[in-house]
Amino acid sequence: MSKQTIIKKTTIKTLQKMKKNGEKITALTAYDSLFAGYLEEVGIDVVLVGDSVGMVYAGQETTIPVTIDDIIYHTKAVKRSVKNVLLVADMPFMSFQLNPEDTLKNAGKILKESGAESVKMEGGKEIIESISRCVNAGIPVMGHLGLTPQSIHKFGSYKVQAKSKKAKEKIIDDAISLQKAGCYAIVLEKIPALLAKEISELLDIPTIGIGAGKFTDGQILVTYDMLGMFEKFNPKFVRRYGELANEIKKSIGQYIKDVKDNNFPSEEESY
Ligand code: KIV
Repeated sequence: MSKQTIIKKTTIKTLQKMKKNGEKITALTAYDSLFAGYLEEVGIDVVLVGDSVGMVYAGQETTIPVTIDDIIYHTKAVKRSVKNVLLVADMPFMSFQLNPEDTLKNAGKILKESGAESVKMEGGKEIIESISRCVNAGIPVMGHLGLTPQSIHKFGSYKVQAKSKKAKEKIIDDAISLQKAGCYAIVLEKIPALLAKEISELLDIPTIGIGAGKFTDGQILVTYDMLGMFEKFNPKFVRRYGELANEIKKSIGQYIKDVKDNNFPSEEESY
């Protein structure tokens, strides 16, 4: 009998078990089928089709212009090469802020058309009715607190959030409200590590940190950042596991040189 590695599908229940067992959750972003395939192959738990796609992939200044159709297009591409990861699609700006009915309609459209298994929404108490509406209809929701990039014009910059006592209390209160509303996990972005620890210990659901220190139940990064591909953005919370922008430019530079020097294609590369 041949030996087979049994890889289990990650679901929202798996994440909850992982928190209980103290096993860290790994998450990364993907916007296309090629990268998503790499993430699946090496065993990532969660793939997020983030609205960071607007900045990293489409060259937009902020995540605000991203549309539901953009998210559906990219999630469909990602879906084609993943089956074991938990696939989460971001809800873009203004697709969930208006009212619970519109939120449900938009979240449903994303799930039906893209193949995502869950949606993510940025915000606290102000969106709990919309979250409950989706959860009650069977749509798992991941929350997102702290630095919520869709509110960049309110914050004025991408600085660390929740430093004052009042802001700390608010984020703790928001996290409890999101859990009560039915979120199965919460992303905590760019907040002090000890605050993220307090929230992670307080909640039954897992927290996934980005720039929130090491005490969260899991970690997420933008894949293009950690591979050193997105050069415009280099905050200290991104550990670079590669310098692929340099590699890519070096390879393309060599190709240009080879063509100019009539060094490509060779005889072996010709018919
Ligand atoms: O859009 C995104 O990629 C995100 C992650 C950074 C959490 O929201």
